[in-house]
Amino acid sequence: MAEQTFYIDEDVGQDEHSQQGTESSPYKSLSFAVLQHGDSHKFLTRKSTTGEVAEGAVESSRLDWKPAAKAALKKAKNYAAQQQKKAAREQELVAQRSKEEADRKKIFDEAKKIVIEEDMSLPKAVKIKLDETDPKKVTLGNGTDVKGTRVRVFGRVHRERRQKDIMFITLRDGYGFMQVIFSGGLSKTYDALTLTRETSMEICGELREVPAGAHAPNSRELHADYFRIVGKAAGGDDAITNRVSRDTEHATLLDLRHLTLRGETASKVLIVRDAVEFAFNQVYKELRMRKVSPPALVQTQVEGGATLFKFRYYSEEAFLTQSSQLYLETCLPSMGDVYCIEKSFRAEKSLTRRHLAEYSHVEAELDFITFDDLLDHLEHVICRVLEVVMDDPTIAQHVKELNPEFKMPERPFMRMKYSDAIDWLVEHHIENEGMEPHKFGDDIAEAAERRMTDIINRPIFLTHFPAEIKAFYMQKDKDDPRVTESVDCLMPGVGEIVGGSMRMYDLDELMAAFKREEIDPATYYWYTDQRKYGTSPHGGYGLGLERFLAWLCKQHTVRDCCLYPRYFGRCAP
Ligand code: 4AD
Repeated sequence: MAEQTFYIDEDVGQDEHSQQGTESSPYKSLSFAVLQHGDSHKFLTRKSTTGEVAEGAVESSRLDWKPAAKAALKKAKNYAAQQQKKAAREQELVAQRSKEEADRKKIFDEAKKIVIEEDMSLPKAVKIKLDETDPKKVTLGNGTDVKGTRVRVFGRVHRERRQKDIMFITLRDGYGFMQVIFSGGLSKTYDALTLTRETSMEICGELREVPAGAHAPNSRELHADYFRIVGKAAGGDDAITNRVSRDTEHATLLDLRHLTLRGETASKVLIVRDAVEFAFNQVYKELRMRKVSPPALVQTQVEGGATLFKFRYYSEEAFLTQSSQLYLETCLPSMGDVYCIEKSFRAEKSLTRRHLAEYSHVEAELDFITFDDLLDHLEHVICRVLEVVMDDPTIAQHVKELNPEFKMPERPFMRMKYSDAIDWLVEHHIENEGMEPHKFGDDIAEAAERRMTDIINRPIFLTHFPAEIKAFYMQKDKDDPRVTESVDCLMPGVGEIVGGSMRMYDLDELMAAFKREEIDPATYYWYTDQRKYGTSPHGGYGLGLERFLAWLCKQHTVRDCCLYPRYFGRCAP
C-alpha cells in the first residue's frame, strides 16, 4: 500500500472510526492511527491548538505539524500489536463458544430423540419409600418378602453428579436417601442431561448392594431401568443452591424457610421434633395422664401483662394464651392428671436466641402431690422421653449427627436452691444485670443463668425462687415463706427449658395474691372456684418444646427448632 500521511492532533483530534486522519479530520492518538493503518505511513502530530501558550513560546509553534517521534511510534506499534492479538483471541473464543453451543444443541437434539419407556416385560415394580431396608428382600403390603424385586421410588433430587456416561443421583423423600444410577440411554436423555436439584421424579430399577469400598445410604444403590420427571426444579440463577446455602445469612434462610427446610439439618431437627412430641404423648400415656386441649383465645393472663398479645375479640378485649396452666388445673377433679401440647404466645420484645412469640408448650398438672413428687415426675418424664426418642435408630442417628456429644443426662438431676445459686454466682464472680454481685431477690438473668448451667454442665433443678420474682399462683414454702415451691429446669447450652411450681390451693391466700398483683379476680372466677369446690395440693409445669430441642439437637437458637418461627419482627412466611 502506498505511503500516506495521517494527522494526529492530541488536543482536538478524535479516536473515532468516523475520522479520516486527514489534516481537517485528525485522530487524537498515534496508537489509534497505527492500529487503524499500520506503521508504514507518515504520521504528523501536534499538541494543543486551543490551550494557553506557554510563556515565551511562539504562538505558531503549537500549530505546527511535526513527524511523530521514533519512540512514540515504537510504543504505538506495540500497542497496536497487543490490540490485534487480543482481538484475535476474542474472535477465537467466540468461535469456540458457538462451536460448543452447536455441539450442545446437537447433543440435546440427539438426547431429545431418546424416549424412555418402562419395559413392561420386566417384573412389576413394588413401590417403596427410600428408607425401606434390605435390598434383596422387599416386604409387600401383605407381609410376604420378595427376593430380587424391582422397586419403584418417588422423591426429589438431593444431589447429582456425572462420571462420563454414568449419572449418580441421591434421591430424597423425607424418609431417607437413596443412591440411584443412570447408565446407558437413561443418562443420555434430555431430562438427565438437564437435571436440576429438587426435581421430583419417579424411578424404577433394581436395588443392589454397593461394591465393596463404595459408600451410599443403606449401602445400596438403585440401578434404574426407567425414570420419569414429575416436576422439574428451577435451574440457573434460580437454582435452589443459589438461593440457600451454608453461607446464606440466617435472616435470608428464615425468609426462605420453605426452601431451607429441604436441607439436611433443618429437616433432621424437625423429624427429631416429631419424635419428641410423640414421645411426650407416649410417656404421659404410660403415666395414665389425659390429654386435653385448652383454648388459645382467653381473657386472663398467667405470666404477667408485659408479654400479652391483645386483640379485639368481637367487641371485647382478649389475649392469645400465655400458658394453658390455669385451664389444666380445672381438669384435675374429673380427669385426674392431665397434660396438653399447645401453642403459647408471648409478646417478647427482645431478640434472644431462646425467645419466640409463638411456641409449643408441653404442660402438665398433677393432683394430690408434694413438691418432691413434682420434681421426681419431671425428671422421670424428661429421661423417659429421651429414652423413647433414642430407642428409634433413625432418630438416634439424627441426634448423633446434629449433636455428636449428646449423652443421656445422669440421674438424679442436680437440685439447687435459688439462694444457693445466688451464692454460687457470687463465688464465681458472675454479676447481675446492674454489673454488681448477685443478691437474694435478683431475677437471675439469661446470660448469668446460662453461664452457670454451662459451667456445671448437667441438668439442674433450680428451686425455691423468691415469691416477688415469680407468678402470683405459686405456693409458698411452708418452712420459708419468702420463697415458693417453684422449679426451673436448666440445661447446658440453653438454660431454662421448664418452669413449674406447686399451686396456691387456699382460696383466701390466692385472693390475697391477686390483690397484691393488682389483678382483678372477677375474670378468674372459674379458676378460683377450683379452691372453693374441694381444693387439693397440686402442681405442674410447662416445658418449651423448642428449647428442649435446641438442647437435644444442639441448635444455637430456638428459631431453628420450629417450622416457621415467629418472633419480634417476624410473622412470615
Ligand atoms: O416459665 P414459664 O413462663 O411458665 C409458665 O408459663 C407456666 N404457666 C407453665 C406451667 O406451669 N404450666 O414458661 C414455661 C416454659 C419455659 O421454661 C420455656 O421453656 C418456655 O416455656 N418459654 C418459651 N419458649 C420460647 N419462647 C418464649 N418466649 C418462651 N417463654 C417461655
